[in-house]
Amino acid sequence: MLQGKKILLGVTGGIAAYKAVEVVSRLRKAGAEVRVVMTREATEFVTELTFREISGNPVTVDMWAPVQHWNVAHISLAEWADAALVAPATANIMAKAALGIADDMLTTTLLATTVPVFFAPAMNSNMYAHPATQKNINILAERGAHIIPPGTGKLACGAEGPGRLAEPAEIVAALERFFAEGDRLAGVKVLVTAAGTIEPIDPVRYIGNRSSGRMGYALAEEAAARGAEVVLVSGPSALQPPTGLKKFISVETAAEMREAVLREAETSRIVIKAAAVADYRPKSVSEHKIKKNDEELSIILEKNPDILKELGQKKRPGQILVGFAAETQNLLQYAREKMEKKNLDFIVANDVTKPGAGFNTATNLVKIISRDGGIEDVPMMTKREIAKRIFDRVLPEQ
Ligand code: PMT
Repeated sequence: MLQGKKILLGVTGGIAAYKAVEVVSRLRKAGAEVRVVMTREATEFVTELTFREISGNPVTVDMWAPVQHWNVAHISLAEWADAALVAPATANIMAKAALGIADDMLTTTLLATTVPVFFAPAMNSNMYAHPATQKNINILAERGAHIIPPGTGKLACGAEGPGRLAEPAEIVAALERFFAEGDRLAGVKVLVTAAGTIEPIDPVRYIGNRSSGRMGYALAEEAAARGAEVVLVSGPSALQPPTGLKKFISVETAAEMREAVLREAETSRIVIKAAAVADYRPKSVSEHKIKKNDEELSIILEKNPDILKELGQKKRPGQILVGFAAETQNLLQYAREKMEKKNLDFIVANDVTKPGAGFNTATNLVKIISRDGGIEDVPMMTKREIAKRIFDRVLPEQ
């Protein structure tokens, strides 16, 4: 999977910098080309010469050194790579990357690159557990960075706990998995729905729900990062559509979403419905703003079409249908019933009563249930990480 891939390795100043030498060696054995950027602090632990010899390429440290090999070094390095890996990643580099600080060659390159970025943290366990570090890791993960979690054990500082750099073999395996999965979605059309639909009452009022679009946008972003041709159909959302989409279709009502989804689903291999579609809409929409008076006001609601159920009835052989279930009670039972009733291959059940899960949160807590009865309990993590888990699960075998 790594044959011919170009990997930019950032080495930062921690005792685990010496293990990055083995990472380079393994990457090269797997067929990758590696270019190393070191922070000034990293050179206190391992010399540039070591990385130059092991990578077979010049090593960059200084922003201001005369450029010999590239036009503008941080830009050309950022564009040259297929993926960037920071190993070891200190708390400091992750804080800077989370904030977008660019004050040396590595941070500037990370800001300039658009390729997937992997961080393999390594530090003292208290630093790792610190809320600031955890928050920065979450920010990076939510933006799409891949975090290779540290191991637990005796650390160089004498402390015991999480913070030990993942083994070089695990780091290389994470990159291999990424490229393998990317290839499996290359050229595959994936249809994702996101956000809530809004159902008008009159020209200024509507019935809506609390869906922000974050879950659906994270799925679309992840599918695009894996090379899929992504069509995102979204209800109103404050979010910017992710880059790399084939098509973005903005809708308001369930009827509009139905029309777009049924049309696009005809040629989609995978359909994931993360949208919170209104089950009911006002039976009649007032042409003018409804005037307030002293009486009670009743609005008669009629049923909206169940888009996912229709998709389930029309499902083509080989098509994969994934639904979401937002529940406040009997999570597994209700989710399984929806999966059967709508003829789905998978359903992602979120208990929206749990803090940090469900509507308008950066994180989610879900169970991925498959038709064959399997359940993957996914702990609380960012919606982008959840999206990764979902694609890992539903990708068609090849
Ligand atoms: O957008 P966020 O703020 O990030 O929040 C994410 C989320 C909580 C909205 C998301 O994780 C989620 O659970 N989405 C589905 C919410 C929902 O409406 O669930 P449901 O149980 O009512 O519907 C079940 C499935 O049928 C869903 O896939 C839904 O898209 C689909 N459906 C529902 C009704 C309908 N008329 N047509 C449909 O297609």
